[in-house]
Amino acid sequence: MGYRVLLIDDEKSILKVIKKFLEDQNFQVTTAENKKEALKQITAKRFDIILSDYRLPDGTGMEILQYFRERDKETPFVMITAYGSIDGAVEAMRKGASHYVSKPIDAENLLKIIHFLIEKNEKNGFENMEEFAGIIGKSPLMRELFKEIDIVSKSESTVLIEGESGTGKELVAKAIHKLSSRKDKPFVALNCSAIPVELFENELFGHEKGAYTGATGNAKGKIELAADGTLFLDEVGELDTISQAKLLRVLQEKEFYRLGGTNTVPVRCRVIAATNRDLEKMVSEGKFREDLFYRINVVHLKVPPLRERKEDIPLLAKHFLKKYSQINRKNIVDIDKDAMEVLMNYEWKGNVRELENAIERAVVMCQYDVITTEHLPPRITKNKANSSTPEISGELNLFELEKRVILKVLEETNWNQTKAAQKLGISRKQLRTKMKNFGLLQA
Ligand SMILES: Nc1ncnc2c1ncn2[C@@H]1O[C@H](COP(=O)(O)OP(=O)(O)OP(=O)(O)O)[C@@H](O)[C@H]1O
Ligand SMILES: [Mg+2]
Repeated sequence: MGYRVLLIDDEKSILKVIKKFLEDQNFQVTTAENKKEALKQITAKRFDIILSDYRLPDGTGMEILQYFRERDKETPFVMITAYGSIDGAVEAMRKGASHYVSKPIDAENLLKIIHFLIEKNEKNGFENMEEFAGIIGKSPLMRELFKEIDIVSKSESTVLIEGESGTGKELVAKAIHKLSSRKDKPFVALNCSAIPVELFENELFGHEKGAYTGATGNAKGKIELAADGTLFLDEVGELDTISQAKLLRVLQEKEFYRLGGTNTVPVRCRVIAATNRDLEKMVSEGKFREDLFYRINVVHLKVPPLRERKEDIPLLAKHFLKKYSQINRKNIVDIDKDAMEVLMNYEWKGNVRELENAIERAVVMCQYDVITTEHLPPRITKNKANSSTPEISGELNLFELEKRVILKVLEETNWNQTKAAQKLGISRKQLRTKMKNFGLLQA
């Protein structure tokens, strides 16, 4: 699919000619004739490049550039300046334009610039990102994921999102939907773990009047409700074998009958599935149908656990701090160093959701403007206390660790070697040898 261009110019003849030229080159061109319309487009859609005239009836290209750069520092923005207006060009470049062209526009030259900028941006586009379509993160793993989301959102493929509980799988599914051409159509989620086998078909396909006792009218199933939008099959790994077969069939046939219905209904939605299980392993254990696995695993996205991307913790923590300060009408501005250290060292088995809950709690507990360790949930700070006996920070190897443990026990026993050796579970002789090695005892 072609790159998405936003072309802003109030001269209709220019819009028409350039639009046609770029469309012939396989670009998807959206046009705007004034600032108001341009800002609307920028807020609603993602573009691969923006081309804006400097002078517009209701403002300037500079104002659009500024508005855009507050939201997106990467996407190329080309300023189109009046003939000979070098001042405007310089100003635009200084304020974050990627390039400028002056009128009259040389279409071939413009094309070269567009290609150059888009390719350059694709190479390092995600390098400085800290957020993408509502997903916070700046770790290399997350930036890689952003890139993949961006790519799959432009396709129609079925996607399987794998990741531990609370890593943000649903957020990723929603991001794909939001960035896709289906964004104005419904996003319908179906939690596969919550449906008993006998109700699965009813949920998915809906029913017609009289399909079963109690079916007093027609009801659409999730596939139909999602229509031209996205159907999100959450926890797809929890489906029993019968439901798996039913799901496979509808994905293959691309049509279905409502319960009690006599006419087939076409499937028009895009399917995104998610699971916190290892589906491939389930397939090898015979717990998940292989054919269904391949059907849904056309594109595979993995959302990494939080412990593999610790550099995202401060960013996420601050994001949630802001969110819950606002919700609770508090003015908490920061998380102090100790508290942040605790957050960084905790293992976050519940991933981002657990972090979010911890920060929410801290905001509720906090009476001042800075979160400290005392506001954090006890299980998190307790974890710190355990792991810091002896205190572990910075670089530490086994040698250093052993030395600190011995030192600590010696201090506790007032340097009574017999007692210390007992506490450490070694002989007094062994202790003395170690103390010598560590320089704790004069040879
Ligand atoms: N990268 C992120 N940036 C901002 N918020 C996030 C991020 N990841 C997760 N969250 C938030 O954490 C919570 C859990 O995310 P989500 O429901 O998408 O996880 P999940 O992987 O679907 O979890 P589960 O397997 O338990 O269903 C949500 O409130 C979500 O908004
Ligand atoms: Mg979920």
